[in-house]
Amino acid sequence: MKTTWCIFDEKWNQPGYHSDEEVDAQDLAILQSAGDIIKNGDLVAFPTETVYGLGGDALNPMSSQKIYQAKGRPSDNPLIVHIANMDDLEKIAIHIPKAAWDLANKFWPGPFTMVLHKSPLVPYETTGGLETVAIRFPNHPLALELIKHSGGFVAAPSANTSGRPSPTLGKYVYEDMEGKIPMLLDSGAVGLGVESTIVDMTCNPPMLLRPGSVTREMLLQMIPDLEMDHAIMADVKVKAPKAPGMKYRHYAPKAQMSIICGNQADVVKYINQKCCDCKIDGMKTAVITTEEMLLEYQADCIKSLGSRLEYNEIAKQLFRVLRELDEEKVDIIFSESFEEAGIGQAVMNRLKKAAGHRIIKLEKKD
Ligand code: TXA
Ligand code: MG
Repeated sequence: MKTTWCIFDEKWNQPGYHSDEEVDAQDLAILQSAGDIIKNGDLVAFPTETVYGLGGDALNPMSSQKIYQAKGRPSDNPLIVHIANMDDLEKIAIHIPKAAWDLANKFWPGPFTMVLHKSPLVPYETTGGLETVAIRFPNHPLALELIKHSGGFVAAPSANTSGRPSPTLGKYVYEDMEGKIPMLLDSGAVGLGVESTIVDMTCNPPMLLRPGSVTREMLLQMIPDLEMDHAIMADVKVKAPKAPGMKYRHYAPKAQMSIICGNQADVVKYINQKCCDCKIDGMKTAVITTEEMLLEYQADCIKSLGSRLEYNEIAKQLFRVLRELDEEKVDIIFSESFEEAGIGQAVMNRLKKAAGHRIIKLEKKD
């Protein structure tokens, strides 16, 4: 199958850019044909404000099967249904509690997903056999236009091959999906870089299943008794997570990766020593660090995620850096660690998964 790669202007990433007068005829024609592809049961990859998604008709069981196939994803791992209109929520979810409406009004459109009881309209193929459905109303003009042209309900996991880092650029989607899907819509780099926050609203109290840019602290202001699935930050071999997808090894770079925790000087010393040892063994070494520490390391490949003062930027760069380390064919990666507060919780959740929970805590010396 030939994959048509359609480049859109970056203005499509600006929230609010989607009134019909502004959209040029060529863009509209592409969106229409993309919508038709989805309505006919096939797949289109598209940008959202978090990461690129691989979209199919959420109400068509065959489309969901195609998504699992294209990603190489186990079919017990449910998909998020994307909507572009608040009224559509009640068509696919039932028994919606008041707190869910409050959260929807506060965080939608945006990087926020709620798990609710599914209506009969949603096939089990989309929910991985569950009676619940994950729903998100994204805040990205191109995603919203595509959803509207596709019939209103687009199932979309991240558009990576299962297990690889989620794509933050169109070229990474092409890398993973070329020949597997008919069309890719590309508007350049995504804004946030980590996938949406997921909260399960079918339990009482509600539970945070995946941290994201809508942070735990923001959610606690609305739901003071919000629980956290502790498997989020722990090794799944030790504790099974509630979101089926969280149990799989994710975002895995091809090289073995470890996260080093401790005070900065000790971390630098440890990593440099390890890189030196690995180099003697003939390995190509890599370090994931920040602007502040960039000059401190000796390794074959040193990648900065940005400044430690800008955690949003760190979240945005993380998956790109993991993919670049694959491209550079490094053998071993050492990463600094980050505070597990605010967006840092999402960053550490993804980093720990990428490292397969290989975490080295350096002893504090008095
Ligand atoms: O930001 C995002 O959410 C991106 C963009 C494309 O919107 N999508 C995304 O989808 O990250 P995906 O499939 O890569 O991750 C969805 C996660 C999985 O861990 C899955 O197990 C969980 O959501 N999930 C989906 N439906 C669920 C349900 N009914 N109950 C519990 N977890 C669910
Ligand atoms: Mg994913």
